[in-house]
Amino acid sequence: MKLNKGKKVEKREELYAGKAKSVYYTDDENKLILHYRNDTSAFDGEKIEKLDRKGEINNKFSAFIMQKLEEAGVPTHHEALLSAEETVVKKLDMFPIECVVRNIAAGSICKRLGVEEGIELTPPTFEFFLKSDELHDPMINEYHICAFGWADDEAVEKMKELTFKVNAVLTRLFADAGLLLVDYKLEFGRFQGDIYLGDEFTPDGCRLWDIKTRKKLDKDRFRQGLGGVVEAYEEVARRLGVDLS
Ligand code: ADP
Ligand code: TMP
Ligand code: ASP
Repeated sequence: MKLNKGKKVEKREELYAGKAKSVYYTDDENKLILHYRNDTSAFDGEKIEKLDRKGEINNKFSAFIMQKLEEAGVPTHHEALLSAEETVVKKLDMFPIECVVRNIAAGSICKRLGVEEGIELTPPTFEFFLKSDELHDPMINEYHICAFGWADDEAVEKMKELTFKVNAVLTRLFADAGLLLVDYKLEFGRFQGDIYLGDEFTPDGCRLWDIKTRKKLDKDRFRQGLGGVVEAYEEVARRLGVDLS
């Protein structure tokens, strides 16, 4: 594992403890430390379990993906891996919004529209959700976002553009590893006036199926009680060439 070789950022008090990650201030006001815990949650925190090694795998997985996205021209918050379970990131002013692209129907869209899981979506669909566990992340649109001041028009367009750019980069990257990128959720924030991809990209926040067998290799294994959750995440990481040492 390659760690930050520059000046080591020092951890300060906790800013926030989420369902899967804890966020810490640092001695640099522009940077935070994300600590990926083993906690795994589904259904807005209704089902929670600790899965051994998941924090470490997701930390390294997300760092790998963020670096690939940076190389492809997507600005991300990623700064450096700090330890097995921690990453230094830019401190973003997060939009309370989740951006979801779907290439194949699965999950909530199947329930909402009564469509069968596995249908290819051409073109891929885009949805905004409000980040609110209490309200169960309701689906919202551009008008709600602007009317309630969650983001302005320009930011909405930028988030959509970047989310689709991520789709172009990652469908290819996963396909080369024998995986279908079914859908994923992204969160963005502002840093010194510009919009950056924040949070994480891991099998906790996307759906990945084996191209040939369509075996689920993501958090649906946890949601649906299929077992082998961490083993599936490791399999995906191994296929992509993520350094888990
Ligand atoms: P949740 O808040 O949904 O329970 P997590 O457990 O993953 O999720 O907590 C991580 C929190 O940190 C999220 O609320 C996310 O929006 C926030 N976050 C992620 N990246 C950044 C960043 N670069 N700057 C500020 N906040 C961030
Ligand atoms: P959904 O089918 O439940 O709407 O989810 C679509 C994708 O977005 C799926 O890969 C899971 C991810 N997602 C999250 O990671 N967190 C969330 O809060 C939501 C709503 C979706
Ligand atoms: N990430 C959300 C939660 O922790 C939703 C989900 O993954 O099902 O509950």
